[in-house]
This record gives sequence, structure tokens and C-alpha cells, in this order.
Amino acid sequence: MDHKVLHNGIKMPREGFGVFQVRDKDECKQSVLTAIRAGYRLIDTAASYTNEDAVGEAVREAIAEGICTRDELFITSKMWVQDMANYDMAKAAIDDSLKKTGLEYLDLYLLHQAMGDYFSAWRAMEDAYKEGKLKAIGVSNFYPNILTNFCETVEIKPMVNQVELHPFFAQPEALETMKYYGVQPEAWAPLGGGRYAPFENETLKAIAEAHGKSIGQVMLRWNVQRGVVIIPKSTHENRIRENLDIWDFELTADDMEKISSLDMGYVGTAVKHFDPDFVRMCVTRKIHD
Ligand SMILES: NC(=O)c1ccc[n+]([C@@H]2O[C@H](COP(=O)([O-])OP(=O)(O)OC[C@H]3O[C@@H](n4cnc5c(N)ncnc54)[C@H](OP(=O)(O)O)[C@@H]3O)[C@@H](O)[C@H]2O)c1
Repeated sequence: MDHKVLHNGIKMPREGFGVFQVRDKDECKQSVLTAIRAGYRLIDTAASYTNEDAVGEAVREAIAEGICTRDELFITSKMWVQDMANYDMAKAAIDDSLKKTGLEYLDLYLLHQAMGDYFSAWRAMEDAYKEGKLKAIGVSNFYPNILTNFCETVEIKPMVNQVELHPFFAQPEALETMKYYGVQPEAWAPLGGGRYAPFENETLKAIAEAHGKSIGQVMLRWNVQRGVVIIPKSTHENRIRENLDIWDFELTADDMEKISSLDMGYVGTAVKHFDPDFVRMCVTRKIHD
């Protein structure tokens, strides 16, 4: 697997491993260790997942085992909305993520949502980036209109935008906006996040059979061929390995078109970012005292 080069020159693996909803610390640590042993080098956590400490433990153990060095790994975390209230809280949140992971720097840190006072939070991230605590900084769930305003306003443009991207919510216009600003797209829920019944989909099934691959592998491959970085999650070793085994085949232009035709548009999204109830839930959600 090769890398994407972010607009600040930092190399980002094209595939990583996500740990959303892996709340049990030991299960999280073991899954991350399994993933690193299998060959993943990018790990995606967040302050709101409350497992940054387990990720840090797995990283230290993998390095101690001699599987890889710290600089071969690409560790991502995210700032939760509660800490995006002002500059000082955002600054403290970055230090807290470093402390919880036990790492001297994070390879990528993201604003988890375009909520709260995210411009003040971004200034804290720009300063931590200049200090070398964060090697790259980015955003998540920034829809094209929000990303455009943000890129036109901030001093340092985000290097990455992590958004929901899978065949049922393909967001071609979001990819266009990211391309325009040199922002690397990264897919959350690249397997649909347990929704949309992709594993019973006849179109995906036929394409998978034609390539001798699984439906999950076809979904992941479709995103990487669109230039998107993917971070599938699993707590099962066979699936962790299967999800990484996508670098030896190529979908045809016809396959790509058929998969893209499954797009349901905005009705397909799992998270209703335009719904006031969802925004209120995020803004009032506390992950610490
Ligand atoms: N920025 C954000 O707002 C945001 C939101 C959501 C997620 N994320 C990030 O993106 C990562 C991935 O998204 P996600 O976890 O929501 O969804 P996902 O990776 O698309 O799907 C995970 C689900 O698919 C199952 N699965 C994994 N591999 C499979 C395979 N080969 N065959 C069949 N089923 C398989 C997993 O079950 P098992 O674990 O039981 O195998 C799990 O239920 C997260 O872990 C997180 O790091 C970010």
C-alpha cells in the first residue's frame, strides 16, 4: 500500500483502522494490535470514543514487539465539540489527547464536527501544529458549503476532511470541493457502518464474484480508486485481515459506475448533520467534567 501526500508534505497511508464504538479497553487494545500486526499503520480514534488510552497502549506494545517504529505509524484523534467552546479549552483538549495516548505527537488531529466555536478551536490546532505537537490538522463532517467558508477564512487550510463515504452515500460534490482546496478526503463508515445491507446487494455481489473478492473488499476498493483514504473498523481478526487485502485487484470503469449508481444521496446518510436535534445532541454531549 502506498501513501497520499497531504498538502503540507506529510505522508498518510491510504488505508487505516477505525475504533469507533470499541469501548471495552482490552478489546480496543487487542484489535489495534491485531491490525498493526496485520499491516495497518494508520489508527483512527477520537476523544469521544474514550479509547485513546487503549490505542496508545497498543502502539507502545507494537513498537516494543518490534513490529514497527513510531514514525511508521500514523495516529489520528479528534477534538470533541465540548472542547471546541473556546481557544483555551481546545488547547487543553489537544494536550489531553497527547496525554491519554501517551504520545509526543499525533500525526493527524481533527475537529470532529463543524459545531461550537470551531474557528477558535482551529486556531489552537494551528498553534499546536506550529509547535510540532500535531503533524497534520484537519476537519471532519464539514459539508461542501462549510468547508468552502472555512478554507476561505482560516490561516492554515485543513489537510484532511473525514466524512461519511460509501456507495450508498457517495458525495461526489464533496469530493470536488475537497479537490479544489487540496484537502484529502477520508471515508468514515466505508463499509456502511453496519447499515444499508450491502452484503445482500446484488450489484455488489456480482462485482465481488467477478473479481473473486468479498463485497466488503469491493466497497473499500471503490473508495480508494476514487482517491479516498479508508478506515474500516472490525473487532474480528479474519475481517481485519480481509479488509486490508484489497491491493491486488482493480475495479473496471464499468464496475466503478455501477457501484456509484447505488448512491442514495442525502437520504442515504446515517447521521443527519442538518437536523437541529442531532446538532443539539452533539453540542450538549459531555465526554468529561
Ligand atoms: N468522524 C466521524 O464522525 C466518524 C463517524 C463514524 C466513524 N468514524 C471512524 O470511521 C471508522 C469506520 O466507520 P464505522 O466503524 O462506523 O463503520 P465501518 O468500518 O463501515 O463498518 C464497521 C461495521 O462493519 C462490520 N465489518 C467490518 N468488516 C467487515 C467485513 N469484512 N465483512 C462484514 N462486516 C464487516 C463491523 O463488525 P465487526 O466489528 O463485528 O467485525 C462493524 O459492524 C470508525 O471506526 C471511526 O474510526 C468517524
